[in-house]
Amino acid sequence: MKILIVGNGGRESALALKLKEDSRITKMYFAKGNATTDKLGQNVYEDSVEGLTSFAIKERIDLTVVGPEAPLVDGIVDEFKKHGLKIFGPVKRAAELEGSKAFSKKFMQTNGIKTARAVVFDAYQEAIDYVRTQKFPLVIKASGLAGGKGVVIVDELIDAEATIHQFMIERIYGDAGIQLVIEEYLDGFETSIIAFSNGSKLFPCIPVKDYKRAGNGDIGPNTGGMGSVAPSPEFTAENYKDFEDHILAPTLSGLHSANIHFKGFIFFGLMVTKNGTYLLEYNMRMGDPETQVLLPLMENNLFDVIMDCLDGKDIDLKFKNKKAVCLVMCSGGYPRKIETGFEIKNISKVTESQILFAGAQNSGSKVLTSGGRVLSLVATGDSYDEARKKVYADAKTIHFDYEFYREDIGKF
Ligand code: AMP
Ligand code: GLY
Repeated sequence: MKILIVGNGGRESALALKLKEDSRITKMYFAKGNATTDKLGQNVYEDSVEGLTSFAIKERIDLTVVGPEAPLVDGIVDEFKKHGLKIFGPVKRAAELEGSKAFSKKFMQTNGIKTARAVVFDAYQEAIDYVRTQKFPLVIKASGLAGGKGVVIVDELIDAEATIHQFMIERIYGDAGIQLVIEEYLDGFETSIIAFSNGSKLFPCIPVKDYKRAGNGDIGPNTGGMGSVAPSPEFTAENYKDFEDHILAPTLSGLHSANIHFKGFIFFGLMVTKNGTYLLEYNMRMGDPETQVLLPLMENNLFDVIMDCLDGKDIDLKFKNKKAVCLVMCSGGYPRKIETGFEIKNISKVTESQILFAGAQNSGSKVLTSGGRVLSLVATGDSYDEARKKVYADAKTIHFDYEFYREDIGKF
């Protein structure tokens, strides 16, 4: 069996390791891959939908799994299906639930899904007039994909006006800012729930906590994720019930009534406030670094689960009664300006946890940094503390110039 995994991050490294448990899989290809995937299979330097389609036809790939959002929104699943290729991910129309925050917010509103109050704008002046009547803080979102940078929380009118100008007039994120969603600010803690879809039903995994801010104690700029723990220690049974009744169930019925059917992942980005669980966003893929802690706890064979979903069968997800902690080691300066090309030392001395590379590439016998989030260290244990001690012991062993990481991942 030949597998193609699209993407280069810690998430794709984790997917590769989990799929590798299945001995029927004889070869794995990664587009474009990193230092982990380079060892597990073959990296392929291709990322256009057309290029990947030709590659999958030529190599007779049996299953493709897509990590990031961009190829999904570009229609990779539709294209693969047109050629009779098996691929796990949403069709373009379903991927719009992530690709267009305006579409997604309208979907939530139409289907009575519990979410922040929001208004969608296509015209600059209307957006400006609106924020002049609102209380602060407010959240301004570019509707399209902006590499995770299109959401700004503004505390004052002057910042709101500047952000709207940057998005709609200066177009700092290109066409992503043509439409805006402006919504109420929700104060609480965030939780991620990722579900598998078999085309007609959704099967949620355990809730995960993602650490988004760069600094200890949740301060500093938002990042792609500095660490994660599973299961989320904060998300209560009551929060889950709220999620099931007011988010999961109406999402499923909304998908049916909009005639959106897909076989892939759906990620619920949740905010729990004193008034309960709210949906902030859908992602139509697995999360990074959520995947790194979910998969080591998953008891199922991932390949079987994906194939069953593709066949429209029901699945029964099972997770170990353990805790998992993921610590992301970054290049100094991340998420702002970074320098790369530094050697990652002592990799062979990592003994307590699993090392999953992301922004790191092999260069001869060395591994060099090549991105902001360089690698994830992942460990499991009977307690958060046990798992946490393992990843921090290994973080102290690993070294590259200007490395940095949070000190408080998994500390409760
Ligand atoms: P989104 O891409 O919509 O999930 O937004 C990215 C991040 O912005 C979220 O993970 C939250 O940290 C923050 N955010 C988005 N919407 C809100 C909101 N209504 N209130 C508070 N924070 C928000
Ligand atoms: N960890 C959030 C995301 O993958 O978008």
